Amino acid sequence: MQRHFLSINDLSKKEILQIFNLAKRVKKNPTIYSSKLKNKTMAMIFEKPSLRTRVSFEVGMTELGGHAIYLGPNDIQMGVRETPMDIARNLERMVDIVMARVFEHQKLIDLSVDTKIPVINALSDIEHPCQAMADFLTILEHKKSFKKLKITYIGDCNNNVTRSLYYLSQKLDVNFVMAGPEGYKLGLGTELMSPFEAIKNADCGITDTWVSMGLESEKKKRLKVFPKYQINKKLMSLAKKDAIFMHCLPAYRGYEVTDEVIDGKQSVVFDEAENRLHVQ
Ligand code: CP
Ligand code: NVA
Repeated sequence: MQRHFLSINDLSKKEILQIFNLAKRVKKNPTIYSSKLKNKTMAMIFEKPSLRTRVSFEVGMTELGGHAIYLGPNDIQMGVRETPMDIARNLERMVDIVMARVFEHQKLIDLSVDTKIPVINALSDIEHPCQAMADFLTILEHKKSFKKLKITYIGDCNNNVTRSLYYLSQKLDVNFVMAGPEGYKLGLGTELMSPFEAIKNADCGITDTWVSMGLESEKKKRLKVFPKYQINKKLMSLAKKDAIFMHCLPAYRGYEVTDEVIDGKQSVVFDEAENRLHVQ
């Protein structure tokens, strides 16, 4: 059966660690791998905007000797011009792999259910597994090991990024703590605490936008409840002295994070962005 990467849970712990090792090797010496994907083509389906995901996948294919084709929202109009299943049945005749960024996770399932080529989740409403992989690779590079770490996420605890980070921390037995307003819980039995309690002695503080793509109509409501969960200098000062700050980007400065923190010495957000390329 064809395997896909729609969720962190599609990988075993062993595979995740193997991917981190390979990513580090590719990062160090990319030329060794420059013909690994010779004559291979990736179709990249985007229903939403992107900077990092599009560029990292496309550059990644180029660096490995392959090619990527960008299919934007107006190109194929998934579900309007054609069903995801019919799109996959066409693509599998022409390309070797598909990645898709979609509004509804179900579209990824429909794309992948009956196709002979792998489908990668490049962000859905439910998960952003490539982001979580890049985040943990970044943590590993900065902290050397996951042992005894406390990783804290503050903000919208019920979004794609949080869910993938949570699954990955479960896989790797990492202590992952979250804090956010009532009504924005992951619903997986995870505890919500005050942001101060959550960040205390943390090795890593992470946040993400309070208004994910597709939720723009909730912006006004969300901006009322989230400000208590902003990662600012005061909150970050409760973490360990050598704690790092992470954000998948794009960042809404002055909302979920202040300039001082994201531009400060503890911030590793651009290492994190770069690692999207290597880990993917
Ligand atoms: N972090 C991330 O996925 O960025 P883009 O939305 O720009 O791809
Ligand atoms: N949670 C954010 C991540 C952006 C990369 C969103 O879905 O918009």
